[in-house]
Formats: sequence, structure tokens, C-alpha cells
Amino acid sequence: MPIRLRRSVLAVPGSNPRMMEKAAASEADEVFLDLEDACAPLEKPAARGKVVEALTTHDWAGKTRVVRINQVTSRFAFDDLREVVSGAGPSLDCIMVPKVRNAGDVAFVDRALLQLEQSLGLPVGGIGIEAQIEDAMGLMNSDEIAFASERLETLTYGPADFSASMQLPSLTVANTRNYPGDIFHYVLFRLAVSARAAGIQVIDGPYLLIRDIDGFREAAGRAAALGYDGKWVLHPGQIGPANEVFTPSQADFDKSARILDAYREATEVDRRGAVMLGDEMIDEASRKMAEQFYSRGLAAGLSPSPSDAPDAAPA
Ligand code: GLV
Ligand code: MG
Repeated sequence: MPIRLRRSVLAVPGSNPRMMEKAAASEADEVFLDLEDACAPLEKPAARGKVVEALTTHDWAGKTRVVRINQVTSRFAFDDLREVVSGAGPSLDCIMVPKVRNAGDVAFVDRALLQLEQSLGLPVGGIGIEAQIEDAMGLMNSDEIAFASERLETLTYGPADFSASMQLPSLTVANTRNYPGDIFHYVLFRLAVSARAAGIQVIDGPYLLIRDIDGFREAAGRAAALGYDGKWVLHPGQIGPANEVFTPSQADFDKSARILDAYREATEVDRRGAVMLGDEMIDEASRKMAEQFYSRGLAAGLSPSPSDAPDAAPA
């Protein structure tokens, strides 16, 4: 399966049909229809049908379609899964599982999906899982969680719930006040390590101050610098900046193409493993760094500037 693009992951309340319709027409790479915290408890049962309706009626072409169910220990989670997969299974790419605390939470969803896929005649293993890490226990167990299921496509950070779980003195998830640095640096890097070890994507959570686009860009930029694949967006105004921040610049993309080309020539024609490219020494590790820029850029729709196009597609 091709790697899904998740530079912008748009959160939409599953209880709001109008917002779901607008989300389908947005520029977000992924949209998740929320049955959890953006849905009032009294609205949760009725929201399942609205989510099914939205998934099966709107045009979601080009988007990753996800539904966030409730925590697996809640009274809602099982019925969320059953109703959504029964009603909209073929129109669903992934289930997002909030507040994952151990591998068993993911295993439960994995097996429930297996049974539903079998009984509904859907391709077995076709529906992926995104696991949200949102508390101290989840972070402690992020390694085992990342390997808990073949279906797992992302680890996703939940900074609001995490702040509450850690009793951080913040009401907005703004993370630099009264601290000489980024209070989320450790958790962001920790999750990235778990996710990369398992070969899956890692996604940053929401930035709540939706009018503060500069603050959003800065927070997204920090996640991008740690190799994150994308970040949640809560408002249309955050979508463009997210897509931009998580796409390599044309200059970096072109440079990656030059490195791939020069290194291929060096190894295949000259049979040398380390060569100079301008002022830089490049070797196999440089090729790997360049390869991830190049494939990320291609996935985001970039193409090399004419003079930088590699002679052949990189392996
Ligand atoms: C998202 O679910 C968060 O808690 O930040
Ligand atoms: Mg949360």
C-alpha cells in the first residue's frame, strides 16, 4: 500500500453534518470524523449514523478517511466500531483509537476489525489503525504499542489530554511559557523513535489557538524538524500552513535529487562509496537522507526542477 499523505489531519465533530461536508471539500490530506471528545456524550450514539452518512455520500477522493472511536474502555467503543464499519466499511481507511495505554488496547481494535471484515465480506486487514498516545502510561508503553498490530499506520500525539494527564499548568497547550525550551520535546522525540522503529508514521496533535497561525507554524515546524509526517488541524486556516511545513522546500527537494544522482553515478559508474558533491562529502548515509526527502517530496506532488531531475528514478 502506498504511504498515505498526512501532512494535515483535519479534526471534525461527527455530530456536525455541515462541517463533515465542508471537510470533504477541504485541502486536508486526512479527515477524521470524531466520535470522541469533539462529540458531546449525549450526541455520541446519534453521531455514528451521521458519520456513516457523511462517509458514504460525500466525495472524499484523494483523502485519507478516518473515524475516531471512543476509548476502548468506554461504553461506546465497541458500538462505534460495529456501526461505523458495518455502515461505511468500504469508505473507511483507518480507525483512530484515542488514549491508547498499552498494546492490548490496539489488539482489541485489531481483532474486532478482523471479525467485522470477515462477517461483512470486506478485505481482511484493509482497515488501518491510528493510535493516539495521550497520557503517561501510553508514553511509557509507546514501544510495545507501535508494534501491536500490522494494521497500525501512525502513532499520534494528543497534547491536550497529555497535558491534563501530566498535570501541566497550561490551559491552551501553548508550550513554552515559564520553561526554557519546548516542554513537549521529550514526548515528541520519544514517540518518533517508537514509530520509526516500527516503520510507521508519527503525527503531532492539535494547536488550540486557531487564530494564531504564526504559533501554529512554529509548533508544526518543531514537529517537522523531528521528522514528523504531519499535524492535526482544527480549522481551515491551519490546513495550508500544515501542508506547507510538512512538504520539503523545492530547494531541498532539488538538492536531494542531485545527491541521489551524484551518488548513483559515483557508486555505479566510478565504483566509489564516498565522493564530493560541491563542498560536501556524500556517502551511503547521505543517499538515505536524500532518499527520504525525495520520496516525501514526490508524495507531496513536487517534481525536480528541470536541471535537477535524476537520470533515473531512485531505487
Ligand atoms: C487530542 O486528542 C489531544 O488530547 O490533544
Ligand atoms: Mg485527546
